[in-house]
Amino acid sequence: MTPIGIFDSGYGGLTILDSIRKLMPQYDYIYFGDNARAPYGTRSFDVVYEFTLEAVQKLFEMDCPLIILGCNTASAKALRNIQQNYLPGAYPDRRVLGVIRPTAEIVGNYTRSHHIGVLATEGTIKSNSYTLEIQKLFPECTITGLACPMWVPLVENCEFDKPSADYFVKERIDTLLSMDPLIDTIILGCTHYPLLINKIKQYCPENIMIISQGQYIADSLKDYLKRHPEIDSRISRGGSCKYYTSESPERFGESASIFLNQKIEVERI
Ligand code: DGL
Repeated sequence: MTPIGIFDSGYGGLTILDSIRKLMPQYDYIYFGDNARAPYGTRSFDVVYEFTLEAVQKLFEMDCPLIILGCNTASAKALRNIQQNYLPGAYPDRRVLGVIRPTAEIVGNYTRSHHIGVLATEGTIKSNSYTLEIQKLFPECTITGLACPMWVPLVENCEFDKPSADYFVKERIDTLLSMDPLIDTIILGCTHYPLLINKIKQYCPENIMIISQGQYIADSLKDYLKRHPEIDSRISRGGSCKYYTSESPERFGESASIFLNQKIEVERI
């Protein structure tokens, strides 16, 4: 089996996996969540790089020809280094892709005011990756980023649909909109955040477009595979998905089953 590998610091990448599998159910997939070491969002560049590289190496050992870093923090802090300094020497014929560029590519199509908000982890916001990528493509846009340090713990602890989440969601949205009242489009720049979507919609004015990444990452991957038959032809097509976590498989299985609405088998690595 030569599956597509999807990596995240924890459960968040399941939102990406879900959209990708809906669009391209024919491929085999491996999901790896580094739950034991989540959250990544508050960690330094060096540590995020080290953890992400270890995950990439594991997924390559499991014969993935292509890996998606389904994690904005890893995409912001480790992707370029892996692509430029690790892959050419270690695995020149394999690929690692991220989630920031494909999101930046579509956001200009949605904003009318050209004022965009980005909600993400502290690491992603501090890296300035969204601002740089969006302004390369849409220089007329003003981008305001805000870190939401409580949102990932709410998701990792399965509190995302509980009343405890309301305060933290409302407070961040109010703060973002007070920083720039002209914002008409908000990117959820962390793969955990779509799990809070019901609360986010509840506290966001209706005229604001909220961009969850899953669908756009899936479309972008499909397009990539069309343009790269040399990678596409090496991915096995058995329609399977295996799940791995660095934490307790039982706990991951229980929580992931809630997020995915289906029972899954999980192994620990
Ligand atoms: N889900 C990840 C992201 O997209 C990171 C969450 C975290 O581990 O802090 O940024």
